[in-house]
Amino acid sequence: LRIAVLFGGRSPEHEVSLRSAQNVMEALDPAQYDPVPVFVTRDGRWLISSFEDGRLATPAHGTELCLMPGGRGRAIGIDEHGSARPLAKIDVVFPVLHGLPGEDGAAQGLCEVAMVPLAGCGILGSATALDKDIAKRLLRDAGIPVARWMTIRADAPPSFAALEAELGLPVFIKPARQGSSVGVSRVSASQELAGACEEGFRHDRKLLAEEFVAGREIEFAVLENPDGSLFVSRPGEIVPAEMHGFYSYDAKYVDAAGAALIVPAELPETVEATLKDFAARAFRALGCDGMARVDFFVTPDGRFLVNELNTIPGFTDISMYAKVMAASGVPYPQVIDRLVAHGLR
Ligand code: DAL
Ligand code: MG
Repeated sequence: LRIAVLFGGRSPEHEVSLRSAQNVMEALDPAQYDPVPVFVTRDGRWLISSFEDGRLATPAHGTELCLMPGGRGRAIGIDEHGSARPLAKIDVVFPVLHGLPGEDGAAQGLCEVAMVPLAGCGILGSATALDKDIAKRLLRDAGIPVARWMTIRADAPPSFAALEAELGLPVFIKPARQGSSVGVSRVSASQELAGACEEGFRHDRKLLAEEFVAGREIEFAVLENPDGSLFVSRPGEIVPAEMHGFYSYDAKYVDAAGAALIVPAELPETVEATLKDFAARAFRALGCDGMARVDFFVTPDGRFLVNELNTIPGFTDISMYAKVMAASGVPYPQVIDRLVAHGLR
């Protein structure tokens, strides 16, 4: 089975994607798969890469991959001089692109147009989950608790006084469409709000101001079976190191001791069962299929809320999706097999 693994990408999560894709490539069973790593450069070119001696190449030049509309996996390679030649057919595309474009339905739409099976979440769920503002409205409408928030648009800047009166302090300012906490600030004093918005607007035209919720960060992996039923993993917990304050980009990927992952998280059985049920409901509410990681906050007084869903969750060494699936009896190579089977259904 020829599987095109897309990685890199134009988003600020480019580096995270490299780490995720390294692990995906390592987990692909060579007896079953003929992987074609495709490095998406920061300027958006799809370059055919290689995986030799366990190293995933990130070429600057080379042959670009084109999937043909309606081609059912037929592909063309275009070399640096613009010469085209047919390539072997691609059987399935596995996007390991975090953020946008890639996790937002764009790459998924391309697969749809090319009529190539896709591993993971499709167009609609990818698009809704990636936009935190849209996602929260859909979750709220489905009766799923979410943190209170206000949407901030670049063309209609908010009154900080109103924002503070509504949400209190501290408050989080986040780009609506980014992952890995890129551009996210935790604001503890009124005078920091303007700077936090300025930082957020560097990453998106739309921001969220979100109430601070003091609680444990609990995450579940959801994997859809080919028959449409959902497998929900055991929970995992993220404990960010005190100095980082929250699970920031640095706490995730820069500082090796930035956060501890506890898998499975210690939760009373009934709480785990309730959260699992809500993870599945959240997955459905956003129109997801294939896979997603569902992130919760659980407060000391037993309330919980859904923070967000990630339809291409990190697969880096420190990432939760693979760990909670393994703790639920599904080792990483099997996760990939199941995703591929789902895509080919
Ligand atoms: N956006 C990162 C990769 C995650 O959710 O794991
Ligand atoms: Mg995210």
